[in-house]
Amino acid sequence: MKVEDIKKVACVGAGVIGYSWALYYSLKKLSVSVYDLSDEKLDLAKKRIHESLLNLMKNGVVSEDEMSEIENGINYTTSMEDAVKDVQFITESGPESYEIKQKMAEEMERYTASNTIIASSTSGLLVSEIAKNAKNPERFIGAHPYNPPHLIPLVELTKGDKTSEEVLKCAKEFYQSIDKEPVVLQKEALGFICNRIQMAVYREVCNLVMKGVCSIEDADKAVTYGPGLRWAIMGPSLVFELGGGEGHIDGLMKHLNPSISLWLHDMADFKDFPEEFPEIARNGVIEAMKNRPREIGNDDASLAEYRDKMLISLLKLHNKL
Ligand SMILES: NC(=O)c1ccc[n+]([C@@H]2O[C@H](COP(=O)([O-])OP(=O)(O)OC[C@H]3O[C@@H](n4cnc5c(N)ncnc54)[C@H](O)[C@@H]3O)[C@@H](O)[C@H]2O)c1
Repeated sequence: MKVEDIKKVACVGAGVIGYSWALYYSLKKLSVSVYDLSDEKLDLAKKRIHESLLNLMKNGVVSEDEMSEIENGINYTTSMEDAVKDVQFITESGPESYEIKQKMAEEMERYTASNTIIASSTSGLLVSEIAKNAKNPERFIGAHPYNPPHLIPLVELTKGDKTSEEVLKCAKEFYQSIDKEPVVLQKEALGFICNRIQMAVYREVCNLVMKGVCSIEDADKAVTYGPGLRWAIMGPSLVFELGGGEGHIDGLMKHLNPSISLWLHDMADFKDFPEEFPEIARNGVIEAMKNRPREIGNDDASLAEYRDKMLISLLKLHNKL
Protein backbone atom coordinates (compact mmCIF):
# COMPACT_ATOMS: atom_id res chain seq x y z
CA MET A 1 0.00 0.00 0.00
CA LYS A 2 1.25 3.46 -0.91
CA VAL A 3 0.09 6.55 0.93
CA GLU A 4 -1.28 8.10 -2.25
CA ASP A 5 -3.59 5.06 -2.66
CA ILE A 6 -5.40 5.87 0.59
CA LYS A 7 -8.62 7.63 -0.41
CA LYS A 8 -11.26 5.81 1.60
CA VAL A 9 -11.13 5.07 5.32
CA ALA A 10 -13.42 3.27 7.72
CA CYS A 11 -13.89 3.92 11.43
CA VAL A 12 -14.91 0.69 13.10
CA GLY A 13 -16.33 1.41 16.54
CA ALA A 14 -17.73 4.94 16.81
CA GLY A 15 -17.68 5.83 20.52
CA VAL A 16 -15.76 8.69 22.14
CA ILE A 17 -12.65 8.09 20.01
CA GLY A 18 -14.14 6.58 16.84
CA TYR A 19 -16.55 9.47 16.14
CA SER A 20 -13.73 11.98 16.58
CA TRP A 21 -11.44 10.10 14.16
CA ALA A 22 -14.31 10.00 11.63
CA LEU A 23 -14.80 13.74 11.98
CA TYR A 24 -11.08 14.37 11.56
CA TYR A 25 -10.78 12.21 8.42
CA SER A 26 -13.80 13.95 6.98
CA LEU A 27 -12.33 17.39 7.76
CA LYS A 28 -9.28 16.19 5.78
CA LYS A 29 -11.51 15.42 2.77
CA LEU A 30 -11.20 11.65 2.93
CA SER A 31 -14.18 9.49 2.13
CA VAL A 32 -15.30 8.03 5.49
CA SER A 33 -17.56 5.18 6.51
CA VAL A 34 -18.49 4.62 10.12
CA TYR A 35 -19.48 1.25 11.54
CA ASP A 36 -20.93 0.42 14.95
CA LEU A 37 -23.17 -2.31 16.34
CA SER A 38 -26.53 -0.56 16.32
CA ASP A 39 -28.42 2.42 14.92
CA GLU A 40 -28.52 3.88 18.45
CA LYS A 41 -24.70 3.88 18.60
CA LEU A 42 -24.51 5.44 15.14
CA ASP A 43 -27.06 8.11 16.13
CA LEU A 44 -24.90 8.98 19.14
CA ALA A 45 -21.84 9.28 16.89
CA LYS A 46 -23.81 11.55 14.51
CA LYS A 47 -24.90 13.72 17.45
CA ARG A 48 -21.32 13.99 18.72
CA ILE A 49 -20.08 14.92 15.25
CA HIS A 50 -22.80 17.57 14.98
CA GLU A 51 -21.93 19.08 18.38
CA SER A 52 -18.18 19.07 17.67
CA LEU A 53 -18.78 20.70 14.29
CA LEU A 54 -20.91 23.41 15.91
CA ASN A 55 -18.00 24.06 18.27
CA LEU A 56 -15.55 24.20 15.34
CA MET A 57 -17.89 26.59 13.54
CA LYS A 58 -18.18 28.80 16.63
CA ASN A 59 -14.39 29.03 16.65
CA GLY A 60 -14.09 29.83 12.94
CA VAL A 61 -12.61 26.48 11.84
CA VAL A 62 -15.44 25.44 9.48
CA SER A 63 -18.20 27.36 7.71
CA GLU A 64 -21.88 26.40 7.77
CA ASP A 65 -21.57 25.00 4.22
CA GLU A 66 -18.53 22.89 5.14
CA MET A 67 -20.38 21.64 8.19
CA SER A 68 -23.30 20.30 6.19
CA GLU A 69 -20.94 18.91 3.53
CA ILE A 70 -19.11 16.94 6.24
CA GLU A 71 -22.30 15.77 7.93
CA ASN A 72 -23.84 14.63 4.65
CA GLY A 73 -20.60 13.07 3.38
CA ILE A 74 -20.08 10.47 6.10
CA ASN A 75 -21.54 7.04 5.44
CA TYR A 76 -22.96 5.35 8.57
CA THR A 77 -23.68 1.63 8.58
CA THR A 78 -24.28 -1.35 10.83
CA SER A 79 -22.90 -3.64 8.10
CA MET A 80 -19.20 -4.36 8.59
CA GLU A 81 -18.98 -5.50 4.97
CA ASP A 82 -20.37 -2.21 3.62
CA ALA A 83 -18.13 -0.20 5.93
CA VAL A 84 -14.81 -1.79 5.03
CA LYS A 85 -15.08 -3.61 1.69
CA ASP A 86 -13.47 -0.93 -0.48
CA VAL A 87 -11.37 1.10 1.98
CA GLN A 88 -7.57 1.25 2.10
CA PHE A 89 -7.25 2.18 5.78
CA ILE A 90 -9.27 1.20 8.86
CA THR A 91 -9.19 2.86 12.26
CA GLU A 92 -10.48 0.40 14.82
CA SER A 93 -11.77 2.05 18.03
CA GLY A 94 -13.67 -0.78 19.68
CA PRO A 95 -13.65 -1.55 23.41
CA GLU A 96 -10.27 -2.03 25.10
CA SER A 97 -10.39 -5.84 25.25
CA TYR A 98 -8.29 -8.48 23.46
CA GLU A 99 -11.29 -10.72 23.05
CA ILE A 100 -13.38 -8.05 21.31
CA LYS A 101 -10.53 -6.57 19.25
CA GLN A 102 -9.50 -10.06 18.05
CA LYS A 103 -13.09 -10.74 16.99
CA MET A 104 -13.25 -7.37 15.23
CA ALA A 105 -9.93 -8.14 13.50
CA GLU A 106 -11.31 -11.39 12.15
CA GLU A 107 -14.42 -9.66 10.85
CA MET A 108 -12.50 -6.76 9.27
CA GLU A 109 -10.15 -9.18 7.50
CA ARG A 110 -13.10 -11.14 6.11
CA TYR A 111 -14.27 -8.18 4.03
CA THR A 112 -11.09 -6.31 3.08
CA ALA A 113 -8.27 -6.67 0.58
CA SER A 114 -5.24 -8.28 2.24
CA ASN A 115 -3.25 -5.05 2.12
CA THR A 116 -5.82 -2.75 3.76
CA ILE A 117 -4.06 -1.27 6.78
CA ILE A 118 -5.79 -1.83 10.11
CA ALA A 119 -4.83 0.65 12.83
CA SER A 120 -6.04 0.12 16.39
CA SER A 121 -6.66 3.09 18.71
CA THR A 122 -5.77 0.87 21.66
CA SER A 123 -4.53 2.77 24.72
CA GLY A 124 -2.15 0.02 25.76
CA LEU A 125 -2.93 -3.46 24.41
CA LEU A 126 -0.26 -5.22 22.37
CA VAL A 127 -0.72 -5.22 18.60
CA SER A 128 0.88 -8.69 18.43
CA GLU A 129 -1.91 -10.02 20.62
CA ILE A 130 -4.71 -8.16 18.80
CA ALA A 131 -3.45 -9.64 15.49
CA LYS A 132 -2.66 -13.05 17.01
CA ASN A 133 -5.19 -14.95 14.89
CA ALA A 134 -5.04 -12.65 11.85
CA LYS A 135 -4.49 -14.01 8.35
CA ASN A 136 -2.39 -10.96 7.50
CA PRO A 137 -0.90 -9.78 10.80
CA GLU A 138 1.66 -7.67 8.93
CA ARG A 139 -1.01 -5.03 8.14
CA PHE A 140 -1.97 -4.40 11.78
CA ILE A 141 -0.52 -1.46 13.71
CA GLY A 142 -1.33 0.48 16.87
CA ALA A 143 -2.18 4.16 16.37
CA HIS A 144 -2.90 5.64 19.77
CA PRO A 145 -4.59 9.04 19.56
CA TYR A 146 -5.04 11.67 22.23
CA ASN A 147 -8.55 12.68 23.09
CA PRO A 148 -10.14 14.30 21.13
CA PRO A 149 -8.36 13.02 17.98
CA HIS A 150 -10.02 15.69 15.82
CA LEU A 151 -8.08 18.35 17.75
CA ILE A 152 -4.93 16.77 19.24
CA PRO A 153 -2.30 16.09 16.52
CA LEU A 154 -0.33 13.36 18.33
CA VAL A 155 -0.59 9.70 17.24
CA GLU A 156 1.69 7.13 18.88
CA LEU A 157 2.48 4.32 16.43
CA THR A 158 3.33 0.84 17.66
CA LYS A 159 4.24 -2.35 15.86
CA GLY A 160 3.28 -5.91 16.62
CA ASP A 161 5.86 -8.69 16.23
CA LYS A 162 4.64 -9.35 12.66
CA THR A 163 3.85 -5.78 11.51
CA SER A 164 5.75 -5.02 8.33
CA GLU A 165 8.09 -2.03 8.06
CA GLU A 166 6.28 -1.06 4.86
CA VAL A 167 2.95 -0.80 6.68
CA LEU A 168 4.49 1.24 9.49
CA LYS A 169 6.11 3.60 6.94
CA CYS A 170 2.89 3.98 4.99
CA ALA A 171 0.85 4.63 8.16
CA LYS A 172 3.35 7.23 9.31
CA GLU A 173 3.25 8.98 5.93
CA PHE A 174 -0.54 8.78 5.89
CA TYR A 175 -0.86 10.53 9.26
CA GLN A 176 1.69 13.15 8.21
CA SER A 177 -0.26 13.75 5.00
CA ILE A 178 -3.34 14.66 7.06
CA ASP A 179 -1.40 16.94 9.44
CA LYS A 180 -1.11 14.54 12.35
CA GLU A 181 2.14 14.30 14.30
CA PRO A 182 2.99 10.59 14.45
CA VAL A 183 5.72 9.32 16.77
CA VAL A 184 6.99 5.77 16.40
CA LEU A 185 7.83 3.59 19.38
CA GLN A 186 11.04 1.70 18.60
CA LYS A 187 9.92 -1.09 20.93
CA GLU A 188 6.73 -1.94 22.79
CA ALA A 189 6.28 -0.05 26.07
CA LEU A 190 3.24 -0.18 28.35
CA GLY A 191 1.46 3.19 28.36
CA PHE A 192 3.45 4.26 25.29
CA ILE A 193 5.31 7.59 25.58
CA CYS A 194 2.83 10.21 26.69
CA ASN A 195 0.81 8.34 29.28
CA ARG A 196 4.09 7.47 31.02
CA ILE A 197 5.15 11.12 31.03
CA GLN A 198 1.69 12.25 32.20
CA MET A 199 1.67 9.72 35.02
CA ALA A 200 5.20 10.66 36.14
CA VAL A 201 3.97 14.24 36.53
CA TYR A 202 0.73 13.19 38.18
CA ARG A 203 2.48 10.85 40.61
CA GLU A 204 4.43 13.87 41.84
CA VAL A 205 1.24 15.99 42.03
CA CYS A 206 -0.21 13.28 44.28
CA ASN A 207 2.97 13.17 46.36
CA LEU A 208 3.03 16.96 46.90
CA VAL A 209 -0.66 17.02 47.84
CA MET A 210 -0.40 14.02 50.20
CA LYS A 211 2.61 15.58 51.92
CA GLY A 212 0.67 18.82 52.40
CA VAL A 213 3.07 20.87 50.26
CA CYS A 214 0.32 22.28 48.04
CA SER A 215 -3.33 21.89 47.09
CA ILE A 216 -4.64 20.25 43.92
CA GLU A 217 -5.62 23.74 42.77
CA ASP A 218 -2.12 25.18 43.23
CA ALA A 219 -0.42 22.17 41.60
CA ASP A 220 -2.70 22.68 38.57
CA LYS A 221 -2.05 26.42 38.57
CA ALA A 222 1.72 25.83 38.79
CA VAL A 223 1.66 23.54 35.74
CA THR A 224 -0.78 25.70 33.73
CA TYR A 225 1.05 29.01 34.21
CA GLY A 226 4.57 27.56 34.41
CA PRO A 227 5.88 24.55 32.48
CA GLY A 228 2.54 23.89 30.75
CA LEU A 229 2.80 27.15 28.80
CA ARG A 230 6.25 26.19 27.54
CA TRP A 231 5.32 22.56 26.88
CA ALA A 232 2.50 23.77 24.62
CA ILE A 233 5.24 25.26 22.42
CA MET A 234 8.13 22.79 22.66
CA GLY A 235 9.12 19.63 24.54
CA PRO A 236 10.96 19.48 27.87
CA SER A 237 14.36 18.85 26.27
CA LEU A 238 14.18 21.96 24.08
CA VAL A 239 12.97 23.96 27.09
CA PHE A 240 16.08 22.80 29.00
CA GLU A 241 18.27 23.58 25.99
CA LEU A 242 17.22 27.22 26.31
CA GLY A 243 17.49 27.08 30.11
CA GLY A 244 21.13 26.05 29.74
CA GLY A 245 22.07 29.25 27.88
CA GLU A 246 25.55 28.99 26.39
CA GLY A 247 26.08 25.71 28.24
CA HIS A 248 23.08 24.14 26.41
CA ILE A 249 21.04 21.28 27.88
CA ASP A 250 24.10 19.22 28.85
CA GLY A 251 25.56 22.20 30.74
CA LEU A 252 22.26 22.69 32.55
CA MET A 253 22.05 19.03 33.55
CA LYS A 254 25.63 18.96 34.80
CA HIS A 255 25.40 22.30 36.56
CA LEU A 256 22.14 21.52 38.35
CA ASN A 257 22.73 17.81 38.91
CA PRO A 258 23.81 18.02 42.57
CA SER A 259 20.64 19.97 43.33
CA ILE A 260 18.40 17.87 41.03
CA SER A 261 19.70 14.73 42.66
CA LEU A 262 18.50 15.96 46.08
CA TRP A 263 15.00 16.61 44.68
CA LEU A 264 14.90 13.26 42.88
CA HIS A 265 15.71 11.42 46.08
CA ASP A 266 12.88 13.28 47.79
CA MET A 267 10.33 12.66 45.04
CA ALA A 268 7.74 9.89 44.79
CA ASP A 269 8.58 6.50 43.33
CA PHE A 270 5.47 4.60 44.43
CA LYS A 271 3.91 2.08 42.04
CA ASP A 272 0.26 2.45 43.10
CA PHE A 273 -1.61 5.63 43.88
CA PRO A 274 -2.70 5.70 47.56
CA GLU A 275 -6.22 4.35 48.00
CA GLU A 276 -7.49 7.63 49.49
CA PHE A 277 -6.07 9.82 46.68
CA PRO A 278 -8.90 9.63 44.07
CA GLU A 279 -11.32 11.17 46.59
CA ILE A 280 -8.77 13.77 47.65
CA ALA A 281 -8.21 14.65 43.98
CA ARG A 282 -11.96 14.94 43.33
CA ASN A 283 -12.47 17.21 46.36
CA GLY A 284 -9.49 19.29 45.24
CA VAL A 285 -11.04 19.66 41.78
CA ILE A 286 -14.39 20.73 43.30
CA GLU A 287 -12.56 23.39 45.36
CA ALA A 288 -10.57 24.58 42.34
CA MET A 289 -13.76 24.88 40.23
CA LYS A 290 -15.30 27.21 42.85
CA ASN A 291 -12.50 29.71 42.29
CA ARG A 292 -12.67 29.74 38.49
CA PRO A 293 -14.69 32.35 36.60
CA ARG A 294 -17.33 30.85 34.32
CA GLU A 295 -15.57 31.99 31.12
CA ILE A 296 -12.59 29.69 31.78
CA GLY A 297 -14.79 26.80 32.85
CA ASN A 298 -16.12 25.99 36.31
CA ASP A 299 -17.96 22.74 35.69
CA ASP A 300 -17.17 19.79 33.43
CA ALA A 301 -19.15 21.08 30.43
CA SER A 302 -17.82 24.65 30.50
CA LEU A 303 -14.31 23.35 31.20
CA ALA A 304 -14.46 21.10 28.10
CA GLU A 305 -15.74 24.00 26.00
CA TYR A 306 -12.94 26.25 27.24
CA ARG A 307 -10.36 23.49 26.62
CA ASP A 308 -11.52 23.09 23.02
CA LYS A 309 -11.58 26.85 22.39
CA MET A 310 -8.02 27.21 23.74
CA LEU A 311 -6.85 24.09 21.85
CA ILE A 312 -8.16 25.58 18.62
CA SER A 313 -6.30 28.86 19.29
CA LEU A 314 -3.09 26.96 20.05
CA LEU A 315 -3.44 24.77 16.97
CA LYS A 316 -3.87 27.88 14.84
CA LEU A 317 -0.65 29.28 16.34
CA HIS A 318 1.06 25.98 15.47
CA ASN A 319 -0.34 26.24 11.92
CA LYS A 320 -2.20 22.99 12.53
CA LEU A 321 -5.63 24.42 11.74
N1 LIG B 1 -11.42 7.53 25.63
C1 LIG B 1 -10.15 7.92 25.55
O1 LIG B 1 -9.74 8.94 26.13
C2 LIG B 1 -9.18 7.13 24.69
C3 LIG B 1 -7.99 7.76 24.28
C4 LIG B 1 -7.11 7.07 23.43
C5 LIG B 1 -7.43 5.78 23.02
N2 LIG B 1 -8.59 5.17 23.45
C6 LIG B 1 -8.88 3.81 22.95
O2 LIG B 1 -9.86 3.90 21.91
C7 LIG B 1 -10.67 2.71 21.91
C8 LIG B 1 -12.12 3.10 22.03
O3 LIG B 1 -12.32 3.78 23.26
P1 LIG B 1 -13.59 4.74 23.50
O4 LIG B 1 -13.24 5.59 24.67
O5 LIG B 1 -14.00 5.36 22.22
O6 LIG B 1 -14.70 3.66 23.93
P2 LIG B 1 -16.29 3.76 23.76
O7 LIG B 1 -16.86 2.77 24.69
O8 LIG B 1 -16.74 5.18 23.83
O9 LIG B 1 -16.53 3.26 22.25
C9 LIG B 1 -16.39 1.93 21.83
C10 LIG B 1 -17.35 1.71 20.68
O10 LIG B 1 -17.10 0.42 20.12
C11 LIG B 1 -18.35 -0.16 19.82
N3 LIG B 1 -18.23 -1.62 19.73
C12 LIG B 1 -18.35 -2.54 20.70
N4 LIG B 1 -18.15 -3.78 20.19
C13 LIG B 1 -17.92 -3.60 18.86
C14 LIG B 1 -17.67 -4.49 17.80
N5 LIG B 1 -17.62 -5.81 17.98
N6 LIG B 1 -17.50 -3.97 16.56
C15 LIG B 1 -17.54 -2.63 16.37
N7 LIG B 1 -17.76 -1.74 17.37
C16 LIG B 1 -17.97 -2.23 18.58
C17 LIG B 1 -19.28 0.30 20.93
O11 LIG B 1 -20.64 0.18 20.55
C18 LIG B 1 -18.81 1.75 21.12
O12 LIG B 1 -19.53 2.64 20.30
C19 LIG B 1 -10.15 1.85 23.05
O13 LIG B 1 -9.24 0.92 22.55
C20 LIG B 1 -9.47 2.86 23.97
O14 LIG B 1 -8.46 2.27 24.76
C21 LIG B 1 -9.48 5.83 24.26
